[in-house]
Amino acid sequence: MSGSPSASRRTVLRGAALTPVAGLGLAACSGGSGGGAPATPTAPVVLGAGSEVSRGGAQLYQDQNVVVSRAEDGSLKAFSSICTHAGCAINKLRGTTLVCPCHGSEFDAKTGKVLRAPATVPLHGLSVEEKDGKIVAGPGA
Ligand code: FES
Repeated sequence: MSGSPSASRRTVLRGAALTPVAGLGLAACSGGSGGGAPATPTAPVVLGAGSEVSRGGAQLYQDQNVVVSRAEDGSLKAFSSICTHAGCAINKLRGTTLVCPCHGSEFDAKTGKVLRAPATVPLHGLSVEEKDGKIVAGPGA
């Protein structure tokens, strides 16, 4: 047993990398086709087949910036999918929850209500009807 020179004790901190959450760029806010802020329909627009929106479900129509949900009784509701926080076009629908890509606000597609800050104002309601099996949404409900 030789007195072994103890290796200097080194405290190795591994793994605890301070990696900031990446990929949360805000560039998406300036998107839109053809410039200008994203907008919701100013005239009635056909979104798609009524069968696309199941009872208790919702569908996001990104091109038109509209989200449509259907209650269990079959009635439809439509809202603008422009975030009320800073005007980003919402591009994600998880079940019936809309998630804004810019700062993470969440909205209920069935009621338009805010589920998660920073947004505080509910989504703007639109008129919606089912015509010949198609969903037609229009300006202000
Ligand atoms: S613009 Fe949607 S959370 Fe800020």
